[in-house]
Amino acid sequence: MTERSTEQRKILVTSALPYANGSIHLGHLVEYIQTDIWVRFQKMRGHECYYVCADDAHGTAIMLKAEERGISPEQQIAEVKAEHEQDFSDFQIRFDNFHSTHSEENRELSSLIYTRLRDNGHIATREITQAFDPEKNLFLADRYIKGTCPKCKTDDQYGDNCEACGATYAPTDLINPVSAVSGATPIEKESTHYFFKLPEFSDFLKTWTRDGHVQEEVANKLSEWLDSGLHEWDISRDAPYFGFEIPDAPGKYFYVWLDAPIGYMASFKNLCEKQQDLEFDDFWKKDSETELYHFIGKDIVNFHALFWPAMLTSANFRTPTQVCVHGFLTVNGKKMSKSRGTFINARSYLDNLNPEYLRYYFAAKLSSGVDDLDLNLDDFIQRVNSDLVGKVVNIASRCAKFITKGNDGVLSSDIADEALWQQVAGAADSIADHYENREFGKAIREIMAQADAANEYIAAKEPWKLSKEPGREQEVLDICSLGINLFRALMIYLKPVLPAMTEAAEEFLNDELSWGGDIQPLTGHKISKFKPLMQRVEQEKVDAMLEASKDAIAEAMA
Ligand code: MSP
Ligand code: ZN
Repeated sequence: MTERSTEQRKILVTSALPYANGSIHLGHLVEYIQTDIWVRFQKMRGHECYYVCADDAHGTAIMLKAEERGISPEQQIAEVKAEHEQDFSDFQIRFDNFHSTHSEENRELSSLIYTRLRDNGHIATREITQAFDPEKNLFLADRYIKGTCPKCKTDDQYGDNCEACGATYAPTDLINPVSAVSGATPIEKESTHYFFKLPEFSDFLKTWTRDGHVQEEVANKLSEWLDSGLHEWDISRDAPYFGFEIPDAPGKYFYVWLDAPIGYMASFKNLCEKQQDLEFDDFWKKDSETELYHFIGKDIVNFHALFWPAMLTSANFRTPTQVCVHGFLTVNGKKMSKSRGTFINARSYLDNLNPEYLRYYFAAKLSSGVDDLDLNLDDFIQRVNSDLVGKVVNIASRCAKFITKGNDGVLSSDIADEALWQQVAGAADSIADHYENREFGKAIREIMAQADAANEYIAAKEPWKLSKEPGREQEVLDICSLGINLFRALMIYLKPVLPAMTEAAEEFLNDELSWGGDIQPLTGHKISKFKPLMQRVEQEKVDAMLEASKDAIAEAMA
């Protein structure tokens, strides 16, 4: 698809809401960096684009975590929110709003949507039997029951699968099951649950999921579920639970996944309250002309591409333009692992390395597909150093001094090689299409091919030699001025990925880099003194980050 049109689009973008019971790690960052790059690109192209997110603050895990720390859930989620916001900000992720699902806006919208579903006959109630902790007076989800594996007899396995032999089973199959919360033996107990009648939306979803709203590989996966028949979705949990009480059902709470996606709306509503000219209905009313994109990982597709569009339809709101699904991060070819030190928290990275290295590396490896993405640390060092330092910055550092010294910092008024300029500036549309289609890897490859062309030109012209020959000053100025202009075009293309380095380049170029339409060269324009724009990645810093990750894990386990 080519970029939609030159007219201004109205776009609302979200990333999945991180849980408020843990730190942000590099796996999460695949998503937030991917989304942030796409949003920055849209804004640069002049579109009206908003990026909202929030902490996902409800559920049993957060309630128990707060209890374990001897603090209130409100205190727990406030602390984590501050930490998350700092991590995101330091990675240059610029939300227009970062809210919480434990907010008034979300309470109101969740009630409203639930009430509409109920009034439309899409809510059912029935009794179910569940494991119950008689000491804590708490219904137990599968992951809160432990026991001996019925197959291989390994102790201390969770209620749904065995880590030793890989068997999957029901918690009732465990030998000597105990509550992971209190150690008590669970009993079976009945209670009334509320269900969303998802099967009534089967036909709608069969069409919707084939209508360009998800990637084809995701649609294929969804087809398997749709063809094997949908089940009613259990949306209630019994007290004690940290969440919102269901309006007409005292002691029953919305399951965290009911109000989590509504948190996207709530965060946007909160933004509208702060920003006068922004209308909530404009973006959420049925048949809205605006665009809505949810960026998510492949583990939460059913919530976003089945339950969510069905809920929105029943409640008379618009459905997403697209759910953009990405794969999972591996480190050095393996799942992130606490024991190998490759379970790397955002903060352990930030304490040692420049966030833009990671933004660049992820961009270089991202596609619009759902394949997993590997952070190979040797490749990471090599790639960033050779592309950003060796290719891009190198162009500016080789050319700058001949302009600052030779011509008082003023660029030539001529373009020394019109064909080369046309080639590099002419790559803009194709690079823009790659960004639009979330083919960031393709965009980066094309940008680096143009960087190669620029470097070849300078290497062939050897201005450092010419500058020693009397009478060739103009030639040197022309060559190096073109070099600086090529560097500037590359920085325009890289601006969505590297906001901080671009800011430094803007200072050097004495020019704010924009990408509204065709790129015009700077002529007769005064630039500033060159300062190094990016340091090389050092192996020692990467090693220090891995050590810090091991320490952080050891501390968390102690
Ligand atoms: N709270 C839910 C989302 C609710 S959205 C209405 C949740 N939270 S999460 O913290 O577990 O994950 C947040 C996002 O990060 C999800 O899209 C998830 O897929 C993504 N990732 C978490 N670990 C990841 C990797 N290791 N690799 C890539 N993405 C990962 O799910
Ligand atoms: Zn087993």
